[in-house]
Amino acid sequence: MVENHWEDVYRTKAVDRVSWFQTKAETSVRLIADTGMSHEAAIIDVGSGASRLVDNLLAAGFTDITALDLSESGLAASKKRLKAKAEAISWLVGDVLTTEFATAQFSIWHDRAVFHFLVTEEQQRAYVEQAAKAVEQGGYAIIATFAEDGPEKCSGLPVQRYSAQQLAAVFADYFTLVHTERESHRTPSGSEQKFNYCVLRRN
Ligand SMILES: C[S@@+](CC[C@H](N)C(=O)[O-])C[C@H]1O[C@@H](n2cnc3c(N)ncnc32)[C@H](O)[C@@H]1O
Repeated sequence: MVENHWEDVYRTKAVDRVSWFQTKAETSVRLIADTGMSHEAAIIDVGSGASRLVDNLLAAGFTDITALDLSESGLAASKKRLKAKAEAISWLVGDVLTTEFATAQFSIWHDRAVFHFLVTEEQQRAYVEQAAKAVEQGGYAIIATFAEDGPEKCSGLPVQRYSAQQLAAVFADYFTLVHTERESHRTPSGSEQKFNYCVLRRN
């Protein structure tokens, strides 16, 4: 079960030793701020895990933040780190593919290194439908996956790698590409992982 995989990861590994760890989610915060959405805009971080993006968004002044993850332990690590500030965030344990979102619930949907684990067309389609429902018209989906020249696995699981154009094409029925960016992420063990970020606007 994939849930167990992620629970095991967060129960057994130090959060700052996992390959995707960032001391600050700089690119994500900048891209979110650059959408020009207000600080009150509803933002969801899909597959948030123990990411410090939520801390960074609070520090940047955003007030309506939801963190969703399959792993309760991943989110628990963030709550522990944030202490009292954790109360300002809505925490949601669940699978992005089956969580019931309200229509137009969010202005910004952020996902770093989650969508690329969906390796079947059926899963990818289901994800896009979830994002299309949950993001308001004029809102944004910011999706970061391993790039076409990135690793073939993440956390021991196979991933689908995307060029920015390939990634945008998967979302093209509902979203228009407005910006792309490449990033070379240095893992705690010192290797480089190429990412592509796409900023997509909901039609
Ligand atoms: C590689 S980690 C990235 C974590 C975080 N986004 C970051 O950048 O630090 C992938 C995360 O996605 C979560 N995840 C994987 N599949 C998921 C799904 N179907 N629904 C919700 N969360 C999922 C995992 O538990 C894990 O926290």
